Amino acid sequence: MRLAVLVSGTGSILDSMLDRGIEVTLVLADRPCAALARVEGRVAAVELLERGEWGRGFDREAYTARLVESLDAHGIDLVAMAGFGTVLGPALFERFPGRVLNTHPALLPSFPGWHSVRQALEAGVKVTGCTVHIATAEVDSGPILAQAAVEVRTGDTEESLHERIKEVERELYPSTLAAFIEELDTGDAPARGGIR
Ligand code: GRF
Repeated sequence: MRLAVLVSGTGSILDSMLDRGIEVTLVLADRPCAALARVEGRVAAVELLERGEWGRGFDREAYTARLVESLDAHGIDLVAMAGFGTVLGPALFERFPGRVLNTHPALLPSFPGWHSVRQALEAGVKVTGCTVHIATAEVDSGPILAQAAVEVRTGDTEESLHERIKEVERELYPSTLAAFIEELDTGDAPARGGIR
């Protein structure tokens, strides 16, 4: 299984995958970020595919086509988004149907989108968490593979709550991904519905 991990941030979740022994063929980032330095020498290939444009001029379809080209050049057959900050076009999901995974810092379908941790705090929920799911062209939707709950504490800030969620993501995503890879390797349909 040739796995690519897509990152934009600190890469702590990617790190947890590598620590677990998951073999990563390619790490691809859409911007210069700490994740790239973090994995230097630990994965077969690292690529910075800068999107360059952040405003209305951003050509999502063209960027997605370049990204798919890179994945194909590395013979990738499974993609894991781990804090990737660019919404990709349908071409990725058509090229890798059911083979793009994502982690989201909320209990989907609640709080999709970029500000899920802040929105959970603002909504006053007492429990939030994280979701590992198969990504589809519609952002933060697609079949759920696993979820874990995280308690919201009095005095939590967006940062403190997000950090506690990420601690859980660093367990849940690697274990779910490892199971997914094993099921693909053995030809079983990937299991759904892990709850913790
Ligand atoms: C995670 O909370 C992920 O769910 C979100 O971005 C964060 C990535 O964290 N989309 P890191 O860059 O791996 O530390």
